[in-house]
Amino acid sequence: MNPQTNTQSGRSAGVISTTEKYCVRSTFAYPLVISHGEGCYLEDLDGNRYLDFNSNVCTAPLGYGHPAVRKAIERPATSGAHKIAGQDFYTVEHAALARKLVSITPGHLSKVFLNNTGTEAVENCMKLAYRKHGALPGVSCYGAFHGRTLGALTFTSSKPVHKFNFPQLPHRRIPFCTDDEDPRVDEVFQVLENEKVAFMITECVQGEGGYNFASTRFMSNLQKASQEHGVPLIIDEVQTGIGRTGKWWAFQHYGLRPNLVSSAKAVQVGASILQEDYEPKESGVVSTTWGGGDRISLAAGLAIIETIENENLMEKASAVGRSILAGLREIKDSFPEVITDANGLGLMLKIDFADGELRDEVVKTAFKKNLLLLGAGKRTIRVVPPLIIGEEDAQKGLDILTESIKESIRLR
Ligand SMILES: Cc1ncc(COP(=O)(O)O)c(C=O)c1O
Repeated sequence: MNPQTNTQSGRSAGVISTTEKYCVRSTFAYPLVISHGEGCYLEDLDGNRYLDFNSNVCTAPLGYGHPAVRKAIERPATSGAHKIAGQDFYTVEHAALARKLVSITPGHLSKVFLNNTGTEAVENCMKLAYRKHGALPGVSCYGAFHGRTLGALTFTSSKPVHKFNFPQLPHRRIPFCTDDEDPRVDEVFQVLENEKVAFMITECVQGEGGYNFASTRFMSNLQKASQEHGVPLIIDEVQTGIGRTGKWWAFQHYGLRPNLVSSAKAVQVGASILQEDYEPKESGVVSTTWGGGDRISLAAGLAIIETIENENLMEKASAVGRSILAGLREIKDSFPEVITDANGLGLMLKIDFADGELRDEVVKTAFKKNLLLLGAGKRTIRVVPPLIIGEEDAQKGLDILTESIKESIRLR
């Protein structure tokens, strides 16, 4: 284990070259071959130890190797039947996770459809809205990311690379407003006055679009328009959900009453959570072989939610979030020419760079210094460490980030 230097030997390089030879080009961020992890740290195959400031893209809210998760997955992992056709046969783990999700969600959202990924959670919310309201256009926001499968992809618009040459469902787009004074903050009303639509879908904090925090007026306009026109509001909580922003769901910061909610990542499987009147009357409208992923993931998802509750992690993470945000704001003040913004909610934080090339260089430099960062949008670095992070590791990460910015500026 070597905490200071990051040197890749043959083991990591071998895995990377095999991956590149046999796997379709995707979104690998840097040459990290994960071996194992403990707390907020991951170790690669060559023994380099990294502080994780992105929680495996918000999928590891308890970090790695948490005893509650280890214990919870033991039974399903050794059951001899860990991967099951989860929408065709019942399991304890499926029922328990669904019940828990309903218990942490406002009372009118009382039914769950468990699936595998974030994009499926989104698509199944969309399907249930279409089923009730008809094959009408759907409304989403510029800069949104709702997934890459063909249905969800129509409503994604964060990067052109996701969309080129792919067919689209009927849709309308509105600006995602981060400022109550944005002149287009009321545009949703015009759209809904002009035609009938099947649903509106949005994130409260655009994740892949660059960690953009919705304005209060914008979100309450969506709620008002939804109620006035009888159009369901789907809130996509795939990245924001399960305590990341300091509440179970980001929509709770805005006092919203969505009709359908998509969740995944931190919950380990995909989950569409809905008002009972969106449940189809017939069976077979929604299903999937691996419904709920597998019993290990279902059990881990439940253990994660219970641990966040038992260890009071939303409150603790928000306190650390406030001090990291203060640190990010200091960094912004120290580098006013290259850093344009620092913002956050709970432990969902970011800094924006004036240009994307420097942002990419900072991510690469931090990786060499054993800090795992991840970009979002064109010019943003997201800062989303595990919810268990303490002040000491938070400060360590901020120090490496500062050093990485200095070094990247010097190299330009
Ligand atoms: C808000 C949001 N929705 C949907 C998705 C798609 O999730 P998945 O990659 O699990 O399909 C993501 C993934 O980053 C996301 O951030």
